[in-house]
Amino acid sequence: MIKQQMKLFLASKPKLKTTAFIATDLWKGLQMTLGKIDTKSGMAHANYSTKESIKYIEEVFNDYKKYGEFEQFYGVAAEIGPGDNAGVALLMRQDGCQQVDLIDRYYSRRNREQQNKIYDSLGHKYKLDNLKTQDFWDETKIAGINWKIGQSAEDYFRKCAQEKKQIYDFIVSRAVLEHLYNPLDALQDMVTCLKPKGRMLHKIDFRDHGMFTPENQELTFLEIPSFFYPLMVRNSGRPNRILIHRYREVLERLKKQGLIDYSILVTHLVDAGEISPHTTFDNIDLKKQNKAINFVEKYKHKLATEFIDLDSQDLAVSGVFLKVVKLI
Ligand SMILES: C[S@@+](CC[C@H](N)C(=O)[O-])C[C@H]1O[C@@H](n2cnc3c(N)ncnc32)[C@H](O)[C@@H]1O
Repeated sequence: MIKQQMKLFLASKPKLKTTAFIATDLWKGLQMTLGKIDTKSGMAHANYSTKESIKYIEEVFNDYKKYGEFEQFYGVAAEIGPGDNAGVALLMRQDGCQQVDLIDRYYSRRNREQQNKIYDSLGHKYKLDNLKTQDFWDETKIAGINWKIGQSAEDYFRKCAQEKKQIYDFIVSRAVLEHLYNPLDALQDMVTCLKPKGRMLHKIDFRDHGMFTPENQELTFLEIPSFFYPLMVRNSGRPNRILIHRYREVLERLKKQGLIDYSILVTHLVDAGEISPHTTFDNIDLKKQNKAINFVEKYKHKLATEFIDLDSQDLAVSGVFLKVVKLI
């Protein structure tokens, strides 16, 4: 009750909220040094019925294939930030992967009973019993699925890249890269860890994840000065505010080196909502493009220095689906 009232009070005062975010981020950092890595983030299934969970798992899995434009998963894959369920990894295993590594900095809290219902239902629908290592589903002991909890993607792929291991045919994530404290270095390391012809598919949500919305307009979080912002997000995994232009810079450089090919599809536009099917900016309905750009131009003058001179089109993109193929 007090927590709820505090939240309502802070909602109307963005500056005070910034201070609260810095304090809670410090607290999270302290907890993590003590080994407390459980989090509410990634509890995608907490409020779903079993049927809704299966639908979500299928959507995530099918989107990788649909937008990645390939027929079948195979070989060795990594899913970053799976959250509270290994359902997507199970479908990847059944589709053809011999191994799926699940890399997560935190442990998303979960309800065992509810999770077992999801595994039973998914197992029944997709005939997954061959992946069970006992009579019941124990998600920590599924054949060919390795949990690597407590390891950030940054650390995991840096180590892998330093050892020059090209082990992955696929590296995928959904709603995760926006939570990394250093997604751009991690992205480059992931490319190093891909096998030649390996693919990466990342759906990234650039919105503020409720930090200042819905009480404030959706670009409010871009107003926080760049010096403060990392102090609010580094330990807690709040959105890192790394937007489309930063990913494009890295990917363009790797492309010029002849290492990769890539494309960026837009999944969301500011003030215009979801873009479905996801597509390149130029293919989006002109009315939606203009709506988003007009919204950006209305608020642009208020943004932090690092954003104020950016192209309005880039600021208008609030979510993307990255497709990367390693060429050599
Ligand atoms: C919003 S959840 C998404 C969960 C799931 N992919 C889904 O679609 O529901 C973000 C996930 O990223 C994980 N995460 C956050 N920061 C991370 C990091 N630096 N390295 C690896 N995983 C991270 C969180 O623990 C959480 O599981």
